[in-house]
Amino acid sequence: MSGAMSLGYLVFEVSRPDSWRAFAVNILGCQVADHVAGETWALRIDEAAYRLLLRKGKADDLAVLGWAMRDEKALRELEVRLETAGVAVESFSVDDLAARHVAVGLRFRDPRGLVNEAVVGLPLADTAFTSTVTPHGFCTGEFGLGHAVLAVGRDTAAMEAFYMDVVGLRLTERIDTKIGPIKVDGAFLHCNRRHHSLALIAVPSRKRLLHFMLQVKRLRDVGMTLRRARLAGISPSLDLGQHPDPDGTVSFYAPTPSGFDFEIGAGSGVIDPATHRTEIKTITSDWGHQPSLRMKLRGAVDLIADKFRRAA
Ligand SMILES: [Fe+2]
Repeated sequence: MSGAMSLGYLVFEVSRPDSWRAFAVNILGCQVADHVAGETWALRIDEAAYRLLLRKGKADDLAVLGWAMRDEKALRELEVRLETAGVAVESFSVDDLAARHVAVGLRFRDPRGLVNEAVVGLPLADTAFTSTVTPHGFCTGEFGLGHAVLAVGRDTAAMEAFYMDVVGLRLTERIDTKIGPIKVDGAFLHCNRRHHSLALIAVPSRKRLLHFMLQVKRLRDVGMTLRRARLAGISPSLDLGQHPDPDGTVSFYAPTPSGFDFEIGAGSGVIDPATHRTEIKTITSDWGHQPSLRMKLRGAVDLIADKFRRAA
């Protein structure tokens, strides 16, 4: 199944689409797309017509995980797995197909209610990707757009079963550690040679999305993005650091205008899905990735809010 799909696009519901768009262009290095794919704004990071879609709304969170299937056979196999598991599947309407610019598409929800979409391929833009701040661009292609990391609260078992047994991702590694005061217990999942396209972390969080990651082609652009973020008054949530091999990404994390984080990284290792052996990690970083005070406080507030919810 690995290689049959990649993380194709993400739809964010954002309260301030115009400032988000400016942030994506000026800090992340995205290009505004001509084709908005049915949302308020669409952003490009490569030759695809869209990768990040902005929808106006109050959630300031991830609204849709979009999977790009290799071919229609892979899509139909996914549909069969969903139906066998009793998951409601909706085929794209004519309007959906026109909006996303695809010939076929499915929509379904994960056990926590997050909308997933699956399309065959992604439409290509009419023009080459250009970015004034990240001219060398991003690593995408067979690896997909990067990765998304979801908070799963106490639904770990259901979420892992869904994304692995039904959607078809495979376990790369488990993590069992702490970042600041926060216990981090999670699963990193792959669907191609990218180390992880999705991670599920068992932490309480007011948002579904903890962060999404884009991989720049040059290490220099990690530093340049960090510099641009700092100049714009955006301070890192996790400072510059490097994940352990086989991931090996050098990256930093900082908040988007919606409050969830972005991660910009480079130098990510690849895995061979055919021979990869699952590992259990007790560290998330070989060096760096120091959490900011804001990040520690945010985690503590989420933990306390969760305790109150449980007591109520
Ligand atoms: Fe990440």
